[in-house]
Amino acid sequence: MLHYYLPGMLPFDSQVTDSFFRWWVVHLWVEGVWELIMGGILSFLLIKLTGVDREVIEKWLYVIVGLTFLSGVLGTGHHYYYIGVNKIWLIVGGIFSALEPLAFLAMALFAVNMYRKGEKKHPNKLALYWTLGAAIVSFVGAGLLGFAHTLPQTNLYTHGTLVTAMHGHLAFWGAYAMIVLAIISYSLPNMTGRKLYDSARGRMAFWFSNIGMIGMTVAFGVAGVAQVYLERKMKMEFMEVQKEIEVHFYVLILCATLFTVGITLYIIDFYKHGRPTDEALEA
Ligand code: HEM
Ligand code: HEM
Ligand SMILES: [Fe+2]
Repeated sequence: MLHYYLPGMLPFDSQVTDSFFRWWVVHLWVEGVWELIMGGILSFLLIKLTGVDREVIEKWLYVIVGLTFLSGVLGTGHHYYYIGVNKIWLIVGGIFSALEPLAFLAMALFAVNMYRKGEKKHPNKLALYWTLGAAIVSFVGAGLLGFAHTLPQTNLYTHGTLVTAMHGHLAFWGAYAMIVLAIISYSLPNMTGRKLYDSARGRMAFWFSNIGMIGMTVAFGVAGVAQVYLERKMKMEFMEVQKEIEVHFYVLILCATLFTVGITLYIIDFYKHGRPTDEALEA
C-alpha cells in the first residue's frame, strides 16, 4: 500500500519528474491494485451467488491477474505522452494501454459466464444485479471508453478535456462504486439476519443510479467531443467553447439528479434495514 502512495509525496523541483511519479499513484492504483481487488471481490461474490466451484473461479482469476499486470504496469505510459518525458513512451504507453481493456473484458465475460453456468442460484437478486452490473459497466467505462482515448494519436486531441471526464466517471462508477454496493448488498442481509434479497426500492436504486450515470457519461462525451473539435481543431478560446457547450451541462445536471435519487434510495434502504434484528443479535 505504502508503495502506491509514497511516490506521489516525493517532492521534485521538476514538474516533469513530479508528474512522472504521481501517475504511479493514480494509474497503478486504479489500473493495477484496485483492478485486482475488484477481481477478488467479484470472484468471492460469484462463488457465493452462482454456486460455481471455487476452482473454476480461481482459474479465471489467474487469467485476470495476468492480463491486468501485463497491460497495466507499462500502460502507465498513456499518461506520459505530453508531460515532457522521452518519446519512447508514445509507443510503450500506446501498445500496452491498448491491451488493458482485455482484463476488463475477461472480468465481464467471467461474470456473465459464471452466472449462466451456476446451478445453485442464491436468492439475493439485488447483490446479483450489482455484481453483474459492476463487471459489465466497468468493461464499458474503463475498457471501451478508456480505449477510446488511449492511443497517442487520439490523446493528442482529447488530453485533459471532458472526454477524460466521460471515461473517468463511468470507469469509477463501474469498477469502484458498483462493486462496493454489490458486496454491501450481499453482506448486509447476512449480518442483520433480514432476508431482504429483493425489493422495489432496491431495484429502483440500481436502475435510477445506472441510467443516471450512463446519461451523465453521454452528456460528458458529447460535450467533450464538441470541446475537442472547437478548441483543438478550430482553435477557439477555452471560455468561448465552454459557453458553446453549456447546454450539455444542463443535460448533465438532469441525469445527475436521477443518479442522486438512485443513490438516495440505496442509502434509505441501508439505514432502514442496516441494523441487526433481535434474533440476529441474540444468535
Ligand atoms: C478502473 C479503471 C479505471 C479508472 C477508475 C479510470 C479513471 C480515470 C480518471 C479519473 C482519469 C483522469 C485522470 C486525471 O487526468 O487526473 C483517467 C485518465 C485516463 N484513462 Fe482511465 N481509468 C481506468 C481505466 C482505464 C483504461 C483501462 C484505459 C485504457 C484502455 C484508460 C485510459 C485513460 C487515459 C488515456 C487517460 C488520460 C486522459 C487524458 O489524457 O486526459 N483508463 N482515467
Ligand atoms: C451528482 C453526480 C455528479 C456530477 C454532477 C459530477 C460532475 C463532475 C464534473 C462537472 C467534473 C469536472 C469535469 C471537468 O471539468 O473535467 C467532475 C469530475 C470528476 N468526477 Fe464527478 N460528478 C458526479 C458524480 C461522480 C461520481 C459518482 C464519481 C465516482 C464514482 C465521480 C468522479 C469524478 C472524478 C474522478 C472526476 C475527475 C475527473 C477527471 O480528472 O477528469 N463523479 N465531476
Ligand atoms: Fe491510466
